[in-house]
Amino acid sequence: MQNINSITNAYLVVENGLIADFGPMSECPSLNFETKNLEGKWLMPGFVDSHTHAVFASARHQEFVMRIQGKTYVEIANEGGGILNSAKKLREMDEELLYQKALVHMNNAMACGTAVMEIKSGYGLSTDAEIKILRVIKRLKNTLPIKILSTFLGAHAIPAEYKENRQAYIDLIINDMLPVIAKENLADFMDVFCDFGFFTPEETDLLLKAAKQYGIKAKIHGNELGISGGVQVAVKNNALSVDHLEHIGQEEIDCLLNSETMPVALPGSSFFLKIPYTPCRQMIDAGLPVAIASDFNPGSSPHFNLWFTWSLACLYNGMLPNEGFNALTINASKALGLEKEYGSITKGKKAAFITTRAFDSINEMPYWFSMNHCLENYL
Ligand code: NIG
Ligand code: FE
Repeated sequence: MQNINSITNAYLVVENGLIADFGPMSECPSLNFETKNLEGKWLMPGFVDSHTHAVFASARHQEFVMRIQGKTYVEIANEGGGILNSAKKLREMDEELLYQKALVHMNNAMACGTAVMEIKSGYGLSTDAEIKILRVIKRLKNTLPIKILSTFLGAHAIPAEYKENRQAYIDLIINDMLPVIAKENLADFMDVFCDFGFFTPEETDLLLKAAKQYGIKAKIHGNELGISGGVQVAVKNNALSVDHLEHIGQEEIDCLLNSETMPVALPGSSFFLKIPYTPCRQMIDAGLPVAIASDFNPGSSPHFNLWFTWSLACLYNGMLPNEGFNALTINASKALGLEKEYGSITKGKKAAFITTRAFDSINEMPYWFSMNHCLENYL
């Protein structure tokens, strides 16, 4: 987690969108093609945002005010706000407008240095609306230079019309939504919100097994609201990642050790909801790798600036700056199964890197909190 290799005064060669070569300037080959001098700046891998909900209809500022006045996130959700509020608005919005709104967010995230972004559905909660979101994500994939992966999160909440019959909604996901999504190749991953008041570990297991039949791998929301069993069900199903983990004990840490599942902390949602921060220090000291992501969404984390995520991780998750950097790059790429293509300056990997302004040390980057240090994003 702490190891970072860097070269002061270096060259880097890009060919056909890939990193062809790099090294100290003293060994720079004589170049007879287009060159660019980045004197004084830092060049580093673009950030990998492995967990976002970037396609949504509108902000939830009313709930922001309700929380300032004392209501909790769970209380608001139980009263039909929260995810159900977002679903209501999204169902009414046409696909074109949804796409235009997401495009604005994506362009801003790219300007902050994000080179890879995972985007989840989960604000539709009906077959039509979930597919609408996934089609928007597909269109974003086809139009933007950023690498995008899509996750089907139909199991984000039980929609109001299925409140008295949750099994019928689970059946709808398995028998109605998944077959279409698989046929149209609309999802790289399947996610379930495995937490108190949302989906149980047993339901999660069932849903993940159904997705596996179509070759769709799992990524889980778990242990945000309590020790929910999300970690165990994620590991059991070889999920690529289990995300949130604000509530995690020794049993969960032991379960994650020697598993294939990357633990992902989301400091932005801890900050915004004023809930505990994932104990990354304790997890790293126990021998775990950790990734961090923005969790960009209108309810619990309306931000996508990963420089700020990095600062929060240092200040409140107990991560050292180097650990935060690895958590945002190479470990985040592993949480998406992209570690062979993204997340580090390595020969043969995609030339997805950014430049920053001059810094004395990498420690200085998260120190200047809430800023965007990205000068250029070479996507
Ligand atoms: O990752 N916790 C579940 N889902 C989202 C928030 C959803 C919302 O409130 O809109 C999250 O925090
Ligand atoms: Fe999330």
